[in-house]
Amino acid sequence: MSEILRVGIAGLGTVGAAVVRLLDAQAADLAARTGKKVVVTGVSARDPARDRGIDLSGATWFSAPTDLARSDKIDLFVELIGGDEGPARESVEAALAAGKSVVTANKALLAKHGIALARLAEAHHGALAFEASVAGGIPIVKTLREGLAGNRIERVYGILNGTCNYILSRMELEGLSFAECLADAQKLGYAEADPTFDIGGFDTAHKLAILASLAFGVKLDAEAISVEGIQDISLADLQAASELGYRVKLLGVAQRTPHGVEQRVHPTMVPLSSAIAQVMGVTNAVTVDADAVNELTLVGPGAGGMATASAVVADIADIARGIRSAPFGLPVDHLASPEKSPMQRHEGGYYIRLAVRNEIGAAAAIATRMAEHGISLESIVQRRACADASVAPVVLVTYATTEASVREALAAIVADGHVADKPQVIRIERE
Ligand code: HSE
Repeated sequence: MSEILRVGIAGLGTVGAAVVRLLDAQAADLAARTGKKVVVTGVSARDPARDRGIDLSGATWFSAPTDLARSDKIDLFVELIGGDEGPARESVEAALAAGKSVVTANKALLAKHGIALARLAEAHHGALAFEASVAGGIPIVKTLREGLAGNRIERVYGILNGTCNYILSRMELEGLSFAECLADAQKLGYAEADPTFDIGGFDTAHKLAILASLAFGVKLDAEAISVEGIQDISLADLQAASELGYRVKLLGVAQRTPHGVEQRVHPTMVPLSSAIAQVMGVTNAVTVDADAVNELTLVGPGAGGMATASAVVADIADIARGIRSAPFGLPVDHLASPEKSPMQRHEGGYYIRLAVRNEIGAAAAIATRMAEHGISLESIVQRRACADASVAPVVLVTYATTEASVREALAAIVADGHVADKPQVIRIERE
């Protein structure tokens, strides 16, 4: 073995340390598979003194990640710092501008600057690889970019945030509160440093922007994504979903429509019989609908040191082999600017939960408003009124309609004064 791939790693947290461990454990196989010996020759981390239980004796320490990124001691820069600006962005730009290849797990950086970084990689003939940025250990980036290159993809959707799936799973199965489950997710290390990124749907949106670009050949545009989180989902919704034959998941969905690529993140009712409904806890899953393969679902660990390191090492191996894929599947100038399909045009079924005032004619008035807006009801269930008999929970499920019709009908129902609280709306995703 004569050739060496010299790797610099910035960020030695859980994932960075796991990458070093995996490169060490798989050294012989990686060399045999790629024809190159992969050696960590440089590192940068906030606390060099911390005992990480890894052998870094062959690596030079750099206090500034940008110095590591530009160093002539490395061929490949691995960015595991995180954040969409600051040292992460500066060091990735510095490495690419110096003609080095970059591997990153940083979905926020890619969602915001992915196109500019891909241009920089093209201009300086380096690779920009990011398998670990979406769904941790699930190789969905390669699946979309290489594995499904012979398909026209119609829709890609998935559970892309383990924290949200963990919270929804435990609330449903154990009847626990949202706050208890979030606290446990933080203790277990699943959540982002700022958990509003998880529960507000923004982490899922960053990942969806990457998937949409790969699936549909469009430029990443996180601003085009309609984002709703899980913070308003209650146990009542989870129980009602189960009685109706559904389960609630936070999904990221990108799909072709006659109006452009619709990109949305929101709590979603999925049929209990679907593959995605079976995915519980911190596990992630991605389903692709495409013409040649029909439907494909990949399920696996979406977070955690070793699972994420698995994806990072796969990218390092590709670069060691000399593979330089266009980061988003096409040269940047061939990526289309996405036509934004506004949420108001979204078509699908809806679950609506109303706190209806217990007055004669209230149910009839609600049904009338729905009919006036062309909405056909698949089911309507009224529960016994609450203790003081003033308000009754009513759950409606609609046949396919548009978001605009639902919002207008609900505005009219609220204006009529028949409901005591803000209506809860959850979209239903067809299989
Ligand atoms: N906070 C993320 C999650 C980690 O919960 O899935 C992986 O991106």
